[in-house]
Amino acid sequence: MTGLQAFGMHHERYDAWFVEHAAVYVSELLALRPFVPIEGRGLEIGVGTGRFAVPLGIEVGLDPSPPMLRIASTRGVRAVEGVAEHLPFASGSFDHALVVTTICFVDSPTLMLAEARRVLRPGGRLVVGFVDRESEIGRRYEAHRSESLFYREATFFSADEVRELLEQAGFTVTDWAQTLAHSLGGTTEVEAVRPGHGRCAFVVVTARNGA
Ligand SMILES: C[S@@+](CC[C@H](N)C(=O)[O-])C[C@H]1O[C@@H](n2cnc3c(N)ncnc32)[C@H](O)[C@@H]1O
Repeated sequence: MTGLQAFGMHHERYDAWFVEHAAVYVSELLALRPFVPIEGRGLEIGVGTGRFAVPLGIEVGLDPSPPMLRIASTRGVRAVEGVAEHLPFASGSFDHALVVTTICFVDSPTLMLAEARRVLRPGGRLVVGFVDRESEIGRRYEAHRSESLFYREATFFSADEVRELLEQAGFTVTDWAQTLAHSLGGTTEVEAVRPGHGRCAFVVVTARNGA
């Protein structure tokens, strides 16, 4: 089963994860909140069930999985079926874009970032949230990848690799933040957001479209 099929077949199980791991979910949301603009037209690439797009006020969500999109749509997201590597939107049509734990699932992060750049207006903002492969949780996910329903097909990245991908695509990295300093099971309370990267599992990087 490919990663995409897993999301399609187990969309309810995927969505329930956020309830079962509420402290992890809220910690991630709080790490993203300061960087996702309140104003302007926003897109989430790989929106899943809309768990981030909705509370962060993002209007449009793209995903290749119809069952995931159906849940996002019931939550109020304008759901669009498609893939990150070929975004079905006009150039310069968004002020900001978000990618949360999706960079590890797309077929080509390089093409995704090129497309994100194309659909953003010049100076528009891209926010990427991801599990740092070099964190404790990242290493555990990587080591147990073959046993995981969802992460079997994932390619995890380090923070330096994500920076390099962003810069190669023509983005200017402006900010870093991180949260989740403990193991997933050990995260029973909402965690603080810290600047930078290298100490926590969930990393947020913000980049500007252009120099
Ligand atoms: C871990 S989920 C993240 C969903 C959502 N961002 C969240 O954090 O809940 C990864 C998502 O990436 C989507 N995905 C897989 N391949 C993709 C591609 N090529 N382009 C866009 N999204 C893709 C999956 O369908 C799934 O919804």
